[in-house]
Amino acid sequence: MEYRFLTEELQKKIKSIQNRYLAKEQAIIPSLHLIQETYRDIPKEAVEELSHFLQVPLADIEGIVSFYDMFRFKKNAKNHIRLCRNLPCHLGGSRKLLKMLEKLTGAKAQGHSQDGKWYIELVECIGSCAIAPSFLINYDLYDGSKIKNEEDLKKILEKYD
Ligand code: FES
Repeated sequence: MEYRFLTEELQKKIKSIQNRYLAKEQAIIPSLHLIQETYRDIPKEAVEELSHFLQVPLADIEGIVSFYDMFRFKKNAKNHIRLCRNLPCHLGGSRKLLKMLEKLTGAKAQGHSQDGKWYIELVECIGSCAIAPSFLINYDLYDGSKIKNEEDLKKILEKYD
């Protein structure tokens, strides 16, 4: 299986977790923490990859993610926008950017667009303050300071089906 979310670095960390336990199932929860720390939530594909990597049934891992409040599956829209709302990004114009995102996607902050194509989430610092206001679409990072008007933003949004 080709791993897209379990990067080599994550695989190494998960391996070292595995080595600490006798039963492979015991590595599930710490591995999910690692995945969530890396991606801020848990992509479904990452769960499939983890199941393959640990050689435990997919249903067991999905059951754990659904059972514990501390784990979050990736939001159920086709494209997930995460816009930082912390001070540097706020001062850099994240409010204006949000207005444009809402207008162009039809989704409101913390909500889906009617067609299910977009979800906009306002998040805390995403570690990219140097390019404030920064935002992610799925796992692609964007420098909001380069977006001067709706046309610029439209060009970015058009890349996503
Ligand atoms: S404050 Fe927005 S990315 Fe850090």
